[in-house]
Amino acid sequence: MTQLKELTEQEIAKLNESFENKSPHELLEWGLGRYGSKIALSSSFGAEDVALIDMMWRVDPKAHVFTLDTLRLHTETYTVMDQIRARYGVKLDIYYPDIKEVDAMVQKEGYNCFYRGIELRKYCCGVRKVEPLNRALAPLDAWVSGLRRDQASSRTNVAKIEVDAVHDNKIKLNPLADWTSEQVWDYIRSHQVPYNELHDQDFPSIGCAPCTRAVKPGEDPRAGRWWWELDPNAKECGIHVGWDPAKVGVILEMQTKE
Ligand code: ADX
Ligand code: SF4
Repeated sequence: MTQLKELTEQEIAKLNESFENKSPHELLEWGLGRYGSKIALSSSFGAEDVALIDMMWRVDPKAHVFTLDTLRLHTETYTVMDQIRARYGVKLDIYYPDIKEVDAMVQKEGYNCFYRGIELRKYCCGVRKVEPLNRALAPLDAWVSGLRRDQASSRTNVAKIEVDAVHDNKIKLNPLADWTSEQVWDYIRSHQVPYNELHDQDFPSIGCAPCTRAVKPGEDPRAGRWWWELDPNAKECGIHVGWDPAKVGVILEMQTKE
């Protein structure tokens, strides 16, 4: 039987059964109790993540939070980061991309290469998000994310407790997996949690500034993410589904030969 951070697959299945009808708060209590300083929330400061920061702070005001600052975020995102730090006193660990990798990419492909095709977009997400995430997770046994099942077709099977095969079989908790966007907003309003003001300007989902736009009435909530890409199943930056630098390298080489 494979051992997964001291939990067997069977134990994880049982835990998922028992937490399926429990609240995010209960799952966070379990996770923080079990992993202590070896668990952290990965926060982009979108609606789900600010709600989770409030919930975690209620369980343990010293709970760890980290963010991946891609250096291409909206001003409004930096504003909410400061507001959250002021309100909760959380110590935020900020992971930046490796500046040499950014420089190599920008010199070779330009600042806004992501608009030129999905592999270049994944290259940028790899440099600015995936590699910093690997560094953030290295000292941890477990992490918490704000993934929800109804966010995207690529997320319908998200479990509350997962084994993150992409990250050394670390445990990944998704306390809001079964919540709707309405439940998240009810929580934010009833607990007066600071949130990114772009959400009031028709940005249901917020990533980097050049890759996020407002959505039009009736559009999918993630339609504004990488809006020029048409496959909804490919709208992932790689932090939840992995990224293979070797593969991107090969594709880049092929592109330069054209
Ligand atoms: S993304 O893959 O499309 O960018 P999304 O914006 O839906 O992800 O966020 C889903 C979850 O991924 C967030 O709740 C958070 O846990 C994590 N996440 C996304 N972007 C970041 C970031 N810049 N820093 C830290 N965590 C992030
Ligand atoms: Fe680069 Fe856009 Fe990905 Fe941000 S979302 S890391 S700017 S491709």
